[in-house]
Amino acid sequence: MDKITAIFENNKAWAKKVSDADPQFFHKISHAQKPEILWIGCADSRVPANQIINLPAGEVFVHRNIANVIVHTDLNALSVIQYAVDVLKVKHIIVCGHYGCGGIKASMEDTSHGLIDNWLRHIKDVARFHEHELHRISDFDARFARLCELNVLEQINNIKNTTIVKNAFEKNQELELHAFIYDIKDGIIRDLNDLPE
Ligand code: CO
Repeated sequence: MDKITAIFENNKAWAKKVSDADPQFFHKISHAQKPEILWIGCADSRVPANQIINLPAGEVFVHRNIANVIVHTDLNALSVIQYAVDVLKVKHIIVCGHYGCGGIKASMEDTSHGLIDNWLRHIKDVARFHEHELHRISDFDARFARLCELNVLEQINNIKNTTIVKNAFEKNQELELHAFIYDIKDGIIRDLNDLPE
């Protein structure tokens, strides 16, 4: 079976499995979505949002791009955040980065990858903001892992500074921001606030 035929087969099998477990499932979620979580993650195929937090369709509003970057002028990401916060009224925004992120690694190297180099400039900026700390880490892998973490923290900062989130906080809307990092080596998500400095 070729890859595309397999997609339809897999999809039918998945829909059947979900319906068998809860015959009303698709009927229920067809009316509206009420996710409480906005997930912002990397486009990396090894970090599939719903799967790694084991939540079914309807539970997570998702935005993914290379290296989970939120740029102040990215209309796509800002629209996702605005819709999630103002309309869906999500209670949690999670930025989940991951160790071993190819985008982060590429930003640390000098080789050119074409158009994406411009996107990776944002991560180079993160590295520049934290030059002092990163400079002290001589081991490349350790520095790479730390930049993966710092990138998440910077993106949380960017989200916090959007007019959308600022307005929500001013209105005392129930909304929490979370900086998470996923380890592709063990499948575990860790809260960056819980990690030792
Ligand atoms: Co990545």
